[in-house]
Amino acid sequence: KLSACIFDLDGVIVDTAVHHYKAWKRLANSLGFDFSEHQNEQLKGVSRVRSLEIILALGNYVATSEEKEKMAAQKNDWYLELITQMTPADILPGAKAFVESVREAGLKTAIGSASKNTMTILMKIGMDKHFDAIVDGNKVTKAKPDPEVFLNAAKELNVNATECVVFEDAIAGIEAAKNAAMRCVGIGQPAVLTEADTVVSSLAEITLEEVRSLSAYTPK
Ligand code: G6P
Ligand code: MG
Repeated sequence: KLSACIFDLDGVIVDTAVHHYKAWKRLANSLGFDFSEHQNEQLKGVSRVRSLEIILALGNYVATSEEKEKMAAQKNDWYLELITQMTPADILPGAKAFVESVREAGLKTAIGSASKNTMTILMKIGMDKHFDAIVDGNKVTKAKPDPEVFLNAAKELNVNATECVVFEDAIAGIEAAKNAAMRCVGIGQPAVLTEADTVVSSLAEITLEEVRSLSAYTPK
């Protein structure tokens, strides 16, 4: 039985990766080293604090916790500056229509994201009323691959975890879904998202019927 669809935000509903990348690159450059688009792949689905630690390690930069706090705040200011220009045109292909088809079928929808900017982004793209529950970086204490974010979403929706399907573009997010005993649709490349139950390039490439036909999770 399928009761709910839980969507990651960045990389599934909206394409924010380039804005995160530009802001992190600006931070790295301000500290005297560079940060490539390829290295940015490692940061998908990773929290702000953890992302900063990865970047500082790449640049062999040692900082005090006070400095790190300032750096994370600076990066977020630059990121917010970049996303002020976001509009519904930045919604990824098929995302809005797919979420709407889920609701029309009488199923519940939720966001499960590490981002503390989730509400700001949903409002900018005009999708803040599309979800029955929004569990974001302000509500969770444990980062993906911990299942907390998705388990909390199921709890808020009042459905069993095994009756949920998660939509994720990040390896850590797919692991989090598996750790929550949820089925998972990967959005991206099959060669990268090997643990997903199925992989499509965008939400335009899958129908609710195909999602329903994914076999129910069976405990190992
Ligand atoms: C998502 C993105 C990451 C981002 C994280 C925290 O997981 O994929 O790139 O760092 O959210 O986002 P925030 O908006 O709170 O900095
Ligand atoms: Mg993501």
